[in-house]
Amino acid sequence: MNPYRDDFPILNEQINGKNLVYLDNAATTQKPVSVLQAVDEYYHTFNANPRRGLYQLSVRATEAYENARHAVKEFIGAQEDGEVIFTRNATEALNLIAYSYGLPFLQEGDEIALPVSEHHSNLVPWQMVARAKGVKLNFLYPDEFGCITDAEIESKITSKTKIVAFAHVSNVLGTVNPVEKIVQKAHRVGAVTVLDCAQSIPHYSINVKSLDVDFIAFSGHKMLAPMGIGVLYGKRELLGKMPPFLMGGEMIEYVYEQNSIFAPSPQKFEAGTQNVGGAIGLDRAIRYLNQVGYETIGKIESELTAYALKGLGEIPHVAVYGNASNTQERCGVISFNLKEVHPHDVSSILDLDGIAIRAGHHCAQPLMKYLGVSATCRISLSFYNTKEDIDIFLTSLKKVRGWLGYED
Ligand SMILES: Cc1ncc(COP(=O)(O)O)c(C=O)c1O
Repeated sequence: MNPYRDDFPILNEQINGKNLVYLDNAATTQKPVSVLQAVDEYYHTFNANPRRGLYQLSVRATEAYENARHAVKEFIGAQEDGEVIFTRNATEALNLIAYSYGLPFLQEGDEIALPVSEHHSNLVPWQMVARAKGVKLNFLYPDEFGCITDAEIESKITSKTKIVAFAHVSNVLGTVNPVEKIVQKAHRVGAVTVLDCAQSIPHYSINVKSLDVDFIAFSGHKMLAPMGIGVLYGKRELLGKMPPFLMGGEMIEYVYEQNSIFAPSPQKFEAGTQNVGGAIGLDRAIRYLNQVGYETIGKIESELTAYALKGLGEIPHVAVYGNASNTQERCGVISFNLKEVHPHDVSSILDLDGIAIRAGHHCAQPLMKYLGVSATCRISLSFYNTKEDIDIFLTSLKKVRGWLGYED
């Protein structure tokens, strides 16, 4: 039995009279009791607006918020707390880079290189920059395993490239992109790197120093923390020269009638009242992940991924996208289709058995087009899943075509 399941009370819920089988962890993870309790304690005992008050509650809220920042700094190996900016989610972090770095520092004729497999959150903001500044988006296309090849890296990242924006792990194919090679090439041509860690940080230990990335973005809710808290990491020298993204209270040094002097990072990028409860939840989620340990997480998840891929391979009429043979490093995000059945129908039918999977374009429409489909089904695994979860899912999936009247 998986020793972590008891920490996640929601996993005992019944859906349609069946035990919940939660296989949509790439969309959002469930939350352990320690995270729920930490957020609850904050709202029960020391909720106050941080930074503003000079009374005890506000000081405690401020301390907890800044402790959370320090915990993130340690977790990702940043050099200083000021390199960690709290946002609402990965999407906001990526927009912040696009607005505060892309718009001011890119010029007509420059290029932004990015894989075609990017989540819309790491594509649409760059389309905005491209339109506003006359910049070209240059796409890297994956091979049949969903991987970015050396040839693509060499030919698409050029002296014109000023930003290389890419996901560490694909939210559709589970592919792990070659971060080191991409960063090296980007830096060789003088480009800045933006690594979207939304799908990798729940599964891999991220160290910004050893990866040598310039910016990273991720969401708390995909790594056991509450929704509404995310992180942007940026190298100090880059953040220092970037203008703020949002203006308002708490991000200024001094305000005159006609202009203002902005505070240094991170305050410069955190206008308005911040999500203290979310930051506390993220702090606790980091503690929980560290206690379980990435080695354990990796071991459980790779076993489950191999088991699920094998099971899917044995079901007639199932086509798995990307690295179905599990020959290369990958995460437990698996996209597939069942012949002649729309993914929405697969998902709705599995839901009758209490199984939560994702169906749709996964906010990656250019990748769908590249794969020649409009949508896929997707399961995504976490360390609190079990082989039993996968067995229940496979058994239910086998019934789907019959349910819809197909004979085999
Ligand atoms: C790779 C990737 N990037 C960015 C995002 C956006 O995350 P959020 O919606 O939490 O901002 C997602 C969400 O699924 C994702 O999978």
